[in-house]
Amino acid sequence: MRRPLVAGNWKMNGDKKNIATLVAGLLSLKCKADVVVFPPYVYILQVLTGLSGTAVAVGAQNISEYKSGAYTGEISSEMLRDIGCQYCLVGHSERRSLYGENDRQVAKKFHQAQLAGLKPILCLGETLKQREKGKTFDLISAQIDTVLDCAGVNSLSDAIIAYEPVWAIGTGKPATIDQIQLVHQYIREKLGASGVKTRILYGGSVTPANTAELLFQADIDGVLVGGASLDIDTFNEMCQLA
Ligand code: PGA
Repeated sequence: MRRPLVAGNWKMNGDKKNIATLVAGLLSLKCKADVVVFPPYVYILQVLTGLSGTAVAVGAQNISEYKSGAYTGEISSEMLRDIGCQYCLVGHSERRSLYGENDRQVAKKFHQAQLAGLKPILCLGETLKQREKGKTFDLISAQIDTVLDCAGVNSLSDAIIAYEPVWAIGTGKPATIDQIQLVHQYIREKLGASGVKTRILYGGSVTPANTAELLFQADIDGVLVGGASLDIDTFNEMCQLA
């Protein structure tokens, strides 16, 4: 049985005061799902300190593809592990589209994270154009193959994948349940026996209105929430639905 995971990606939002409010709201959270939040780097320590002793985990929104060294401005997986992070996002579509991250870089990040003992959440998904051209499954397959090639054939068993169709992120227009379940099922089948324990999350305009239905599907093991995670009551409601 795969345990549901609810992840909140705060993106580049907030300040010290507002982050403290989010943390305070999480202190009262009681739910059966695993929960992780992804604050901006500079607030990670504040959030780790505020949430210490709770079951809510903390992660980074991005990591370096390298282990250490002369990479000015970068943050390594080992540093994040060192301060107490448990998770990181890799390959979020905003990193891919705005910063030109390609499948190979994302795969290297995934590998570095696993080597350091972080749990990477591998984000993947198609643009509207790719979907309309019927390329969704080919694209997802290639994104997964690059990770398996770089991080090892078993690197996705017991790992976390987030299917996030780019056209559904921040648009208020989530993919339909059928569209999502089809892609999740495809990923699960592609991974075969090694994908039985892989948790596959959905991300893209998730709100309390669609959380329960999403999590009811056989191959949807959790949600990656962006905008709606910035309102702590809304986020807690989604955690409780999981
Ligand atoms: P959204 O973002 O929930 O605001 O659509 C999801 C994400 O970017 O992870």
